[in-house]
Amino acid sequence: MSSCVPVIAEARPDMDFRKDNCMTYDVQELRREFPAINQTLEGKPLIYLDSACTTVICQAAIDAQLRYYTQFPGCVGRADHRFGSLATEGWNEARVKIADFLSAESPSYVVITKNTTEGVNLVANSFPFDDGDCVLLSDFEHNSNTLPWLALKARGKIVLSFVKTHEDSSFDLEAFSKLLETKKPRLVSLLHKSNLTGVEFPIKKIIEMAHEHGALVMLDAAQSPLTSKLDVQELDCDFLAFSSHKAIGPSGVGVLYGKPELLEKLSNFLVGGGTARWISKTKGPIFTDLPTRLEAGLQNCPGVMGLAAALNFLESIGQDNISAHIISLNEYCSSRLVEVPGLSILGPQEPSKRGVILSFRIDGVDSRTFAKRLNDEANVMVRAGKNCVHYWFSTRGGDDVIRASFGPYNTIEECEVFCQAVEAMAG
Ligand SMILES: Cc1ncc(COP(=O)(O)O)c(C=O)c1O
Repeated sequence: MSSCVPVIAEARPDMDFRKDNCMTYDVQELRREFPAINQTLEGKPLIYLDSACTTVICQAAIDAQLRYYTQFPGCVGRADHRFGSLATEGWNEARVKIADFLSAESPSYVVITKNTTEGVNLVANSFPFDDGDCVLLSDFEHNSNTLPWLALKARGKIVLSFVKTHEDSSFDLEAFSKLLETKKPRLVSLLHKSNLTGVEFPIKKIIEMAHEHGALVMLDAAQSPLTSKLDVQELDCDFLAFSSHKAIGPSGVGVLYGKPELLEKLSNFLVGGGTARWISKTKGPIFTDLPTRLEAGLQNCPGVMGLAAALNFLESIGQDNISAHIISLNEYCSSRLVEVPGLSILGPQEPSKRGVILSFRIDGVDSRTFAKRLNDEANVMVRAGKNCVHYWFSTRGGDDVIRASFGPYNTIEECEVFCQAVEAMAG
């Protein structure tokens, strides 16, 4: 190994996919950086259209993890020997990168979690709610931003209220305003971008309105980092959670950002190694400072280094460029699929309002069977079902959907294969 630095950030310093004054990039060149995307089965390419579920990991993130395992597989923050020191250095560097990615004031405000789900659970279970506090959600949340609050409600701690979204799943600011007045929530917990329709909630406005009414805001940003620059200071959000695996990084790593005065208020949801400085026989435990106080046990060190490398790589492509590319793919597919008899697209009809998502149903067709046929007969991988938005389905009804979702590495040729397959199978 060269000198002694873990170099998580040096993944591909030579790469810069951005082009001056240009909103696109060379997709074929980019695809070389995603090994899983370039496979064939029985002579036909495998086409992955399920990036809203999990993105394909980039080579830079694979390399960063490999570097940890092959060069310094030590224990972060505990061992002073060579492996331990290098691992700690890599871990600290990674946290700095993540904070920088979010424009957080300090790396100390970034808590490492397993995923978005853990971030929401951490806040739900450790924020000092008073009995009877109201938490406000939308009716369009992912189960990961519904179940933790339902569990807290079931324990009698909070009351829950839901903002009903418009028919096309866009956010209803008027209904929200009324609920802020009448329910006086302590905290509002909302998605930024929906995994079912791709609709984006007006979070800047939502946060302003909530703060005017004295409510805190937790953002479920699971679907955001791939196509949006997240600036927690500019947004002024109180908590924000996202997952590495939806941002071309490794699985099993997530991030919870919190304003420092609020993170301070979180009790220790999980305790153990790394969370205590000392356990006094008489006075009990003396806990470590933030953020390690909230990160019990040995964490996914290679995963965090992989995430940092992925974020570097993501920024080298540019989220605006990714968004523009994906919307052009969504426009192409949407304009073709609306012509299919009996096919209806869920959510706003303009593809630009749906971002990476194209969810649809076909009259008289079972969505899961259809998705299975796309996989088996055309090598096209899409998702089908209720996509973990169960509360919305239970209140509005409706059958399962077929969801295609695009990533930075998808091509127009892949979209053509997908459209032709849908047209043939639906006909
Ligand atoms: C909007 C949204 N929130 C939360 C989650 C949960 O993410 P994770 O499983 O990584 O915790 C997802 C995953 O699909 C999501 O799309």
